[in-house]
Amino acid sequence: MTKVKSLEDLKKMREELKAKLTLRQNGDNVEELVQVKVSMATCGIASGAKEVMDVIIAELDSHAIDGVVTQTGCMGYCYAEPTIEVTVPGKDPVVFSYVDERRAREIVSKYIKAGELVDGILPVNYEKVD
Ligand code: FES
Repeated sequence: MTKVKSLEDLKKMREELKAKLTLRQNGDNVEELVQVKVSMATCGIASGAKEVMDVIIAELDSHAIDGVVTQTGCMGYCYAEPTIEVTVPGKDPVVFSYVDERRAREIVSKYIKAGELVDGILPVNYEKVD
């Protein structure tokens, strides 16, 4: 058990517990949140998917949008990596292609936040397994 030796320790402990609680609450209500899956097959990683994922997390945070950002495996779009699948609550999932850092910012601000269409949508070519 962590010992509390100062007010700073106590504040740090409080922030950590708040973060864990938020994560748990978000995990229970995932259908009510924006979900972004970043394809992290080898082709995605080689094309910059990790940097795209970092930008999406930062942009959701800066726009105060509650979302869950996860990585996923091969979605079958080698030719169009990096790709991301975005699910806005109440809408069907949409897959975006050639997502670089600029497009990641655009997708968050225009598609997710403002509900506008953005170029580069791919037809879904896979089925999800529950
Ligand atoms: S290996 Fe590239 S999308 Fe599957």
